[in-house]
Amino acid sequence: MPFRDLREFITWLEGRGQLRRIKVPVRRELEISEIVDRVVKGPVEQNVAVLFENVEGFRTPVLMNVFGSAERMAWALGVKELNDLSEKVAKLLDLSIPGGIIEKLKKLGQLLEVARAGPRRISSGPCQEVVETRRPSLSEIPILWCWPKDAGYYITFPLVITRDPLTGTRNVGTYRLQVYDEQTLGMHWHRHKGGAEHQREGELSGRGRLDVAIALGADPVTMYAGTAPLPPVMDELLFAGWLRGAGVELVKCVSVDLEVPAHAEIVLEGYVDLSERRIEGPFGDHTGYYSPPDEYPVFHLTALTRRRDPIYPSIIVGRPPQEDYWLGKATERLFLPIIRAVLPEVVDMNMPAEGVFHNLVIVSIRKRYPGQARKVMYGLWGLGLMMLTKTIIVVDEEVNVHDVKEVTWRATCNIDPARDLVVVEGPMDDLDHSGLRKNYGGKLGIDATAKGPLDGFTRPWPDEIRMSEEMIRRVTQRWKELGLG
Ligand SMILES: Cc1cc2nc3c(=O)[nH]c(=O)nc-3n(C[C@H](O)[C@H](O)[C@H](O)COP(=O)(O)O)c2cc1C
Repeated sequence: MPFRDLREFITWLEGRGQLRRIKVPVRRELEISEIVDRVVKGPVEQNVAVLFENVEGFRTPVLMNVFGSAERMAWALGVKELNDLSEKVAKLLDLSIPGGIIEKLKKLGQLLEVARAGPRRISSGPCQEVVETRRPSLSEIPILWCWPKDAGYYITFPLVITRDPLTGTRNVGTYRLQVYDEQTLGMHWHRHKGGAEHQREGELSGRGRLDVAIALGADPVTMYAGTAPLPPVMDELLFAGWLRGAGVELVKCVSVDLEVPAHAEIVLEGYVDLSERRIEGPFGDHTGYYSPPDEYPVFHLTALTRRRDPIYPSIIVGRPPQEDYWLGKATERLFLPIIRAVLPEVVDMNMPAEGVFHNLVIVSIRKRYPGQARKVMYGLWGLGLMMLTKTIIVVDEEVNVHDVKEVTWRATCNIDPARDLVVVEGPMDDLDHSGLRKNYGGKLGIDATAKGPLDGFTRPWPDEIRMSEEMIRRVTQRWKELGLG
């Protein structure tokens, strides 16, 4: 059975020694960040989820680092290890009709799973045990001040829910929110994201407002789904339902025409006034730098609903690695089969933590024809949010893309910079600080594959050094005798 809500997941983690409760008082200003930064970057046995039960001035506990390791991320999504996610998606995408009746029934079962995964509306849910519509206020939520030069307190792990004003399609995105006052938040959806598109559709169709609901805490799959770069036509809640094997239960909001996960901890209902912009930031971001202040829309609170005893989930981002690296790893594993379906030569890919998702993608390919590494680069730069990737390194199929040392060795040996670098221009992430213009700049593709006749390379390509099998066996057998440890 999937986790019904965040607390079921907390109990599961605690049972496996993966959650610590901190009962001594801690400050929400910087102190929780410093503690969690050490926990997430520390030795594996110290890297646990942390529940701060005594945040100075608040009754509500703060949950941190819940997805901050490969193991917890996999458990959250109901698999043993993250690679299982690729297999799950690959099976779904395989639409060939299998031969035997058993295989046919299995395929039918998989398709039925999708059909049954749709979100389900229920009449009431724990996220509305307490409803505040008269004077809703954010003041009882222990929202963190993450880094010294931040512009203020930020909600960092929300599910921001909107509907396309024209088509009604839902979007769920994780976008940070700056607290301006008890009822007003800065809505930091980047211009390439689903929420921003709904805002533009609203503006173009002459509407004054866009309804927005913000869920804080939900079952772990739904929490992850807010961060998944799905195409606009795909509902994140349907995706979450398929991944968890049971539709997400929703309740109707009390003040806006939207639905929210019934098992959320806290829900903020309200709207974005489409004519309003305000300076948001700076904020210590996942690039490891402060993202500079800029104009973003503003969210106004019309109702706050919650559980009687809510838990407030938060996340810090900053110099990598941080918890968000594991959310990104899950995305990398889930989307690999989809990328392979479009670019079948792709064998594997890696987005190393230090590449902060959009700065570096390493991809291995099965090269069969001239120009194929370039074709893969152009293909990736045209695929959804992969458009924001600044650097793509393409290596041969036998290279382990997850071993950055191996990639550095082979790539730097294999490239002739005069021939193998591709520099193009295109859209850039809102967070990129290197370009002369915001949202537009250069991209680098590196063809680090071995060269041969396919590439018009006429010199002999050298063999890689490898010891003979016989000598490896002989020295292994004699190792003790040599006394070398
Ligand atoms: C912890 C965390 C914070 C994020 N903050 C933002 C943000 O402030 N603005 C933004 O546009 N994307 C942010 N993202 C990335 C989006 O969640 C991600 O691109 C997602 O695909 C957006 O959903 P959408 O494609 O439906 O817009 C964040 C991701 C994580 C994991």
